[in-house]
Amino acid sequence: MIIIIETDQTLFNMLQINISSQLPMKIMPKDNASEAIALMEILPDIKIVICRAKTGKEDTAAKIIKEIKSEKYDCKVIVLEQTGEPTEKFVTYLASTSPVDIVTKTVITLINNDGSEKAPPMVQRSYFTIPFSLLKLLEKFPCDFYLKIKKGDLNDYLKVFNAGEDVDFGKIDNYLGKGAKKAYVKKDDGKKAVEEINLRFKKILSHSLDDCPYQAKVESVILENLEFLGLNKAVLQIANSSISKLNNELKSSKNLGSVINNIYKTPGSLRYRKSFMTAVFCQIIASKETSVDSRMMHSLQIACFFNDFSLQNEILIAIRSLEEFNMSLLSKEDGKDVETHALRTAEALSKIKEIPEETLKIIKQHHGVASGQGFSQSLTTQIGVLSQIFITAEEVALRIINSPTPSIKLNAIFSEISHSYSQHLDKYLASIKSSFTSNHE
Ligand SMILES: [Fe+2]
Repeated sequence: MIIIIETDQTLFNMLQINISSQLPMKIMPKDNASEAIALMEILPDIKIVICRAKTGKEDTAAKIIKEIKSEKYDCKVIVLEQTGEPTEKFVTYLASTSPVDIVTKTVITLINNDGSEKAPPMVQRSYFTIPFSLLKLLEKFPCDFYLKIKKGDLNDYLKVFNAGEDVDFGKIDNYLGKGAKKAYVKKDDGKKAVEEINLRFKKILSHSLDDCPYQAKVESVILENLEFLGLNKAVLQIANSSISKLNNELKSSKNLGSVINNIYKTPGSLRYRKSFMTAVFCQIIASKETSVDSRMMHSLQIACFFNDFSLQNEILIAIRSLEEFNMSLLSKEDGKDVETHALRTAEALSKIKEIPEETLKIIKQHHGVASGQGFSQSLTTQIGVLSQIFITAEEVALRIINSPTPSIKLNAIFSEISHSYSQHLDKYLASIKSSFTSNHE
């Protein structure tokens, strides 16, 4: 196992996919030295810790090195900063700006005790997985891509894209529509595929998509894969551009139902469709509130794209009440993640200074609790107007998206939410309702 202590989510993700494309090792993210040390105490097979000299105010590297020395762990350390201090034998210092592939190479060298750079054989895995929608970031397929299909009790791999072929968005959408979540590449191609995605992602972000012919589609892929690609200023820019396009569409479209229906039918993850639909409803409710100005409106819509950033999967994202939480039979770890995700997301986002303060507050309160921990449907006065609008919008959006058929029973949805929140959100529900009726006329 490898521990990475890195607060930059993008760098962590990039290290993770690069290392795991070459080594059959589990990679654990940790926020600081104490967390890493706690894990080292219980797990004997931690081979490498990657960290910086400092994380915030903490002397991360020094703490880790001291622990390994005093407990005599068989563990190596890569410090991403050349501090000039005398080194221990088990410590490797790399420049803080070392590219991901240099760090990956160093990891492989350290794992092979003989010092060679050859990756050890991947024993258990013959295929490497990549989120399916990320294929849209590519221009040409760098290698063959497969889908996993079940044949009786066995897994089989069906080739769906050939190396050298141009990327076809329609074909990818088609597979996504059929529920494809992961693409597979032969283990020998894993590195090539990840490198190509890294390269394209960096290029797309640095040009802010200007020269990309499929701008809107690539934007959606990036927003959909936030948890894989990480958060940064460029991603925020992409969210902003998506929001303004969405608002223009709402302005020009005469029929709210058709906008909602388009989002309902869009292939892609629940997370992504929920973001867009919540942003639509936030816009509709907020535009009828005189106390909400355009800056507040923008803060609300930004929140729609990032509020569940720190949750791993759709099952966790869909939990919206204490009742659902108690019935969900989550593992202890997942349970803790869900309970604290509002607070953790607000904290993670506070590191990007371009994110408005109001957005952070909305995200913290988006499950009805001022502290950002747990769920509550009896809203206290601490839950601000913007948070209440957000809660209403997300409740409606999630119910529509989870509806098994496109003929959505709006009145049933409204009365369900009204009941759960003891009529507290009725004013905002009425705003949505009237938009639907005025649109239909
Ligand atoms: Fe949430």
